[in-house]
Amino acid sequence: MNVSLSKMYVDDQIHKVVFNVLNSGRYINGENLKSFEEEFADLCNTEYAVGVNSGTSAILLSLMALGIGEGDEVIVPSHTFIATASPAKFLRAKIVYADIDPEIYDIDPGDVKRKITSRTRAIIPVHLYGHPCDMDPINKLAEAHNLHVIEDACQSHSATYKGRKTGSLGDIACFSFFPSKNMTVLGDGGMITTNNSELAQKVRMMRDHGRTQKYVHEMFGLNCRLSEIHAAIGREQLKHLTEWTERRRAIAARYDILFRDSAVIIPVEREWARHVYYMYVIRLKQRDKLASYLKDKGIETGIHYPVPVHRQPYLISDVCLPITEKYVDEILSLPMHPQLSDEEVDYVASEVRNFMENAG
Ligand SMILES: Cc1ncc(COP(=O)(O)O)c(C=O)c1O
Repeated sequence: MNVSLSKMYVDDQIHKVVFNVLNSGRYINGENLKSFEEEFADLCNTEYAVGVNSGTSAILLSLMALGIGEGDEVIVPSHTFIATASPAKFLRAKIVYADIDPEIYDIDPGDVKRKITSRTRAIIPVHLYGHPCDMDPINKLAEAHNLHVIEDACQSHSATYKGRKTGSLGDIACFSFFPSKNMTVLGDGGMITTNNSELAQKVRMMRDHGRTQKYVHEMFGLNCRLSEIHAAIGREQLKHLTEWTERRRAIAARYDILFRDSAVIIPVEREWARHVYYMYVIRLKQRDKLASYLKDKGIETGIHYPVPVHRQPYLISDVCLPITEKYVDEILSLPMHPQLSDEEVDYVASEVRNFMENAG
């Protein structure tokens, strides 16, 4: 049996909407983008959503709209994808790393507190693997120190914190529709959500050459637009998100049961969280041996991420982050996508258990 780590969904309806766009003659800034933005704002319960061409662009434009730049400090987790941190560095801000919570892998609010200085301007909590960060203490710190909170929600479409959707929990939030995500545009794409009208207007202009109308450019901007084809696909994918999230949660629950009484450390879902399992990440000492054992059995796994951001050449720092540094050698992402069958889940779990009982 071959089991993939993640899998994209494409159906006849997606083919149809792509052809419709191709035949329409309108490829940017059209009705699909407008509708996708409205529908995504509804999903997040935010006033505004602004489509962009990637999650990375969403983070860069959000930082630009907040005026983050030279002399500013931005607090981020190191246990994340590089794009959480690199845009701030590109804007000449100083990256300050905080360690993670040992159970949920998200940024540790206690460490954020320790890292705040008079130069701190923003915090970027990442809802990693689909589990929301503990936002109340983060927002409290932000309020007390007059900081901006930019949610990196690139992995947490539809996850909730105390009943509220990620994307609505800070000043501004950034989503990715990269192909492996819980919903995708079958290419690159992203979304910015916010309740702040001024920020929404700024990022809307900045994604499109800083313009207010044709050939009127009021500020610096880039070309970070989301194409009509991608927006049309995003709208179709969004229709399935609730059902896909339920399936991801059912698969996670099945893995949880199958790993009961084994030495595998399974994901934790806090009582205030609704995890959407972008990844199902286990931890164990013999991670690399297990990964190669599973590969031999036709099971694809991943490591998210094998090198913490503060060890990347571009963003290197000698900061000490004990939990991040320990976990990087122990984490393993198992197959997780809505199209996985129960039989496949059982096969993966039984092979993990076989390894733990024999080689482990
Ligand atoms: C946590 C996180 N931040 C940022 C990004 C960047 O998104 P994109 O790949 O769409 O640029 C991703 C996705 O790859 C991500 O997982």
